[in-house]
Amino acid sequence: MQVKLEAEDERKFREILTEVCRNSRLLSSDRFIQHGTTSVFRHSVAVAYVSFYIARKYRIRVREKALIRGALLHDYFLYDWHEKADWHKWHGFYHAGKALRNAMEDFELSEIEQDTIARHMFPLNPIPPRCREAWIVCLADKICSGGETADGFRNWLDEIAKGFAHPI
Ligand SMILES: [Fe+2]
Ligand SMILES: [Fe+2]
Repeated sequence: MQVKLEAEDERKFREILTEVCRNSRLLSSDRFIQHGTTSVFRHSVAVAYVSFYIARKYRIRVREKALIRGALLHDYFLYDWHEKADWHKWHGFYHAGKALRNAMEDFELSEIEQDTIARHMFPLNPIPPRCREAWIVCLADKICSGGETADGFRNWLDEIAKGFAHPI
């Protein structure tokens, strides 16, 4: 499957991404690893891109800007969840709320955007999304996380392979 937006949509996507980056701390999330070797920033961009792609591919009517902004900010929690610390040890359960609070410090968010960020961890967080945009991001997040974890798995296997490169 090739995930590629049409040129015009790609332009729209880039414009919204640039605007979000200029007005937030999103770029700083490039310091934090999400899964495997992917940073939170790159993961967020991938989720937003895949979300827009799904909407186009399946001709789902969406509020495009809200979809992309919500997706870009869905993991806007701004800490390294791999570091051991008491206050984020339940990361899986609470980071959506944290991301929403951070995002609301930087932007005025529409209800769709708020729902998209707050509900992206369904079904781990049991309250389901209420709008199409949030459902799409919830799905795209799972697709991207799966891929990144598999990448990490591959890197890990490479490391093992390297360790056994000279067995005698
Ligand atoms: Fe998340
Ligand atoms: Fe995510």
